[in-house]
Amino acid sequence: MLGGVLLLNALLSYWFTSDTTWGYHGKYINWRFFKHQFSPKLSLTLSELAKYDGSDGGQILLAINGSVYDVSSNRDIYGPKGTYHSLVGKDAARVYVTGCFRKSDEYTHDLRGLDAEECERDIKSWQKFFHNHRDYWYVGQVELNYDFPENPPEPCQHIKFPG
Ligand code: HEM
Repeated sequence: MLGGVLLLNALLSYWFTSDTTWGYHGKYINWRFFKHQFSPKLSLTLSELAKYDGSDGGQILLAINGSVYDVSSNRDIYGPKGTYHSLVGKDAARVYVTGCFRKSDEYTHDLRGLDAEECERDIKSWQKFFHNHRDYWYVGQVELNYDFPENPPEPCQHIKFPG
C-alpha cells in the first residue's frame, strides 16, 4: 500500500516536474537520514573524538561546542589532504568564531575573551549548517571540560565567512 502511494507520488512528480521528488533533494529523502535518525547517539571524550580524524581512511567527525557531526562524505574538504582537515577530530568551536585558522591555539572549545553574542550567533549558524546539510549528520555529543589550566588564546583579527 505504502509502496503504491510512493510510486504514484513519484510518477505524478515526474509528470509535472520531470523529477521524481518534486525538485526536493534535501537530507530527508536521503536513505542515510533514516539510518542516522534511529541509530543511538555517541557520547565521546575529546581523546576518543581525536581518533576520528580520517587519517586511517575511516569515519571523520568534527564537533562544535559539544555537538558532534559526521562529515565523512566529504573527504575532499575534511580528509587528510582537505582544506579544512584542521577542524576534524576535535571541538574547535573557537575557530568557527574567529576564523584565525593559522593560530594553532584557536582550535579549542575555549571561548573565553570572545564576544558572547558573536559566539552564540556564529556557533549556532555553523551547527545549523552541519545539522541541515544533506550529507552531514549529527551523531552525538562530546564531553567538554571548562577548567582550562592556561590563559585563553591571545586576541586575533577575526576573519568572517564570506557567505
Ligand atoms: C570564520 C571564518 C570561516 C570559517 C569558520 C570557515 C569554515 C568553512 C567550512 C567548515 C567549510 C566547509 C563547508 C562544507 O563542508 O561544505 C568552508 C568552505 C570554504 N571556505 Fe571557509 N570558513 C571561513 C572563512 C573563509 C574565508 C574568509 C574564505 C575565503 C576567503 C573561505 C573560503 C572557503 C571556500 C572557498 C570553501 C569551499 C572549500 C572547498 O570546496 O574546498 N572561508 N569554510
